[in-house]
Amino acid sequence: MNVTVRGRSRHYRTVSFDAANNAVRLIEQRLLPHRFQIVATPDYRATAQAISDMVVRGAPAIAATAAYGLAQGLRAFPGGSAAAFARHAERVYTTLKAARPTAVDPVNAMDWMRRELAAVAGVAEQQRVALLLAERFADEDVEHCEEIGRRGAKLIREGMRVLTHCNAGWLACVDIGTATAPLYAAQAQGKKFHVFCDETRPRSQGATLTAWELAQQKISHAIIADNAAGHLMQRGEIDLVIVGSDRVLGRTGAVANKIGTYTKAVLAHRHGIPFYVAIPLSTIDWRLRAGAEIPIEERAASEVLGAWGVTVQGRRTYVRVGNPTSAARNPAFDVTPPELVTGIITPAGIFRPKELWANRHELGG
Ligand code: MRU
Repeated sequence: MNVTVRGRSRHYRTVSFDAANNAVRLIEQRLLPHRFQIVATPDYRATAQAISDMVVRGAPAIAATAAYGLAQGLRAFPGGSAAAFARHAERVYTTLKAARPTAVDPVNAMDWMRRELAAVAGVAEQQRVALLLAERFADEDVEHCEEIGRRGAKLIREGMRVLTHCNAGWLACVDIGTATAPLYAAQAQGKKFHVFCDETRPRSQGATLTAWELAQQKISHAIIADNAAGHLMQRGEIDLVIVGSDRVLGRTGAVANKIGTYTKAVLAHRHGIPFYVAIPLSTIDWRLRAGAEIPIEERAASEVLGAWGVTVQGRRTYVRVGNPTSAARNPAFDVTPPELVTGIITPAGIFRPKELWANRHELGG
């Protein structure tokens, strides 16, 4: 996506790889929208840490980061026997896998790489092919998002008011985004519409990242407090909801996404508003059988008890909001049951949640 910083416009991917320095290059998302900066992680442990600390976030973006991180780790093998390389590869994989537990995309990406690498002989060749595979995963993510845009644009009609939650935009993917892809495609078709961005406490990805993306793209939008959507729906001011996901169960159509998604789905259902989930194929989990089995990440209490922002002088700072001696619970995701979801927008078409399993071959299952 093109980013304009200090009057200059340039195309960026959220995640890329610097082969000469064996480093993963990331947009430092914690600084947005106040500062645009690229950072590089020098080794696979730093890459995993960047995922945990949410320098990079969003299921497809952390999948591409993990894929590059796996290649980075394999390329840094100090040398030794094939067995030592296999042990090293396992360490790299488990470190990256543990960085964030809810999104299935990083696991799907790395498992696919490992299956492909199993057929490659020799350490040097595996190191070379690992990077090619990571690049291929990243490119395919972009293609999937483009296709989601083509498929989903028809849902956006002239004058619509669309609600989205968290950030499932290009910052959450390698480029383009999932929930935002139909918006960008509809804009390219000349349609006019308005987007409400849920603020998305506690980390405010809607207020900071989605709003910044839409502003960069000159799409009409407004940030709303998380509690405002029900009121707007009741007054007939929201026509459509589109969100992304960290894991959609192929067997049932249950959708894990940022905490608060379930609440919005219940509200949309109550008001007869279509509720869509946009995903690349890497977001589908073909293994788990029930939403209750999805691991839900619990993050630090400090995220709920306070907030990050910048002072009027532009200095990044954390401020306390809640009573500092109180405990806090911070589940980062929730699970929306399939009956609340109108459709899943995928690169292979728009399906009802219960239709995923019957179409598993087409969907890479
Ligand atoms: O905690 P985050 O910011 O990684 O959560 C991101 C989301 O919940 C997104 O909606 C999801 O990963 C889909 S991104 C295309």
